[in-house]
Amino acid sequence: MRQVVLEIADIKVFRNKRQTLKIENLSISAGEIVAIIGPNGAGKSTLLQLINMHLSYKTGKMVLFGEDVAGADKQSLRRRSSMVFQETMLLDDTVFNNVALALRFRGLPEREIKEKVTKALADFHCAHLTTRMAGNLSGGEAQRVCLARALVYEPELLLLDEPFAALDSPTRNTLLAELRLVAIARGTTVMLVSHNFNDVLYFAERAVVLQEGCIVQDDTPEVILRRPVNAIIASLIEMDNVLPCQVEKQGDDILVQLANGVYFPWTGQKWQGATVCCLPGDALYIFDEQLVYQYNSLMAMEGIVSQVVPGIGMYRIMVETQGLSLTMRVPREQVTSRVAIGMQLKIAFNPGDVQLV
Ligand SMILES: Nc1ncnc2c1ncn2[C@@H]1O[C@H](COP(=O)(O)OP(=O)(O)O)[C@@H](O)[C@H]1O
Ligand SMILES: [Mg+2]
Repeated sequence: MRQVVLEIADIKVFRNKRQTLKIENLSISAGEIVAIIGPNGAGKSTLLQLINMHLSYKTGKMVLFGEDVAGADKQSLRRRSSMVFQETMLLDDTVFNNVALALRFRGLPEREIKEKVTKALADFHCAHLTTRMAGNLSGGEAQRVCLARALVYEPELLLLDEPFAALDSPTRNTLLAELRLVAIARGTTVMLVSHNFNDVLYFAERAVVLQEGCIVQDDTPEVILRRPVNAIIASLIEMDNVLPCQVEKQGDDILVQLANGVYFPWTGQKWQGATVCCLPGDALYIFDEQLVYQYNSLMAMEGIVSQVVPGIGMYRIMVETQGLSLTMRVPREQVTSRVAIGMQLKIAFNPGDVQLV
């Protein structure tokens, strides 16, 4: 079994007398790569500051690297983790000296410092920046140096608070890929706060969703992508179709009715109080007879194609169905051969792919 790096139980954090965090239970194991997502103000940064022991808590318990934080020597615990922010906060000095700083604090011999700094800079492909002044670096270069600085003393836990939010998307992707490789190679546990769900899908194997200070979902990014717990999280992850609906019990059946009049039987769990039907765009199909054999329950409807948005692999098609606009994601070859703006299109979905919230 993997060692537990972090365990939080029943912790409440107050800021300006307002409760900003209420974590009933969170456990992170060694080597996990976890994303923290949630709307603005949900408490993501607060959670990282709590873990970094920059905030006190009123009730509950936090165990970090096997030690109860309440009675621990925080300075020595803090040396086992490292934090990176969006603001790079590099000193007005050379790249080498910036990265070497934490090792000098620890009193390592200069020969060992040189070895470790050289390796950390090489890990993030910035060996060529060693003698440059930190103030003259580009945004991407500065963030690479920050990662090298954060990892040079081999922390067990790396806390990242939207470190790449200000970078362009190719730079961000490259940095995420490099960081992932380094973290896996070193066995470093990573907690990444990000508001970009594509980054999360790419980077993390687990995502913890915060809303109003509470964990509302904790699962693989793929499950969160298809089965968000509520409409706010659905729009946060850019769910294609977040459709108002009515759910009614009729005799022994439960029926879900959409705003365009289409209704379908519900056989899943958790329908009481549901007002929204989430449907990923790739769960809507252009109807053909083959589909009927593929799925035993299929809901079909007619609509007019209002927009076709090209993409790599998948195209997005917007279809108007009786006042309800639906977004489909359809393989490119199907679109180019069968779809044009203004045409009537029969489409279908499998109710099993619907998430009611
Ligand atoms: N330094 C602070 N002092 C008081 N309240 C704060 C402070 N920082 C954040 N907050 C409040 O705590 C809540 C959570 O903020 P934060 O953790 O920064 O959210 P997120 O990172 O998810 O956007 C918000 O309501 C915010 O206004
Ligand atoms: Mg934040």
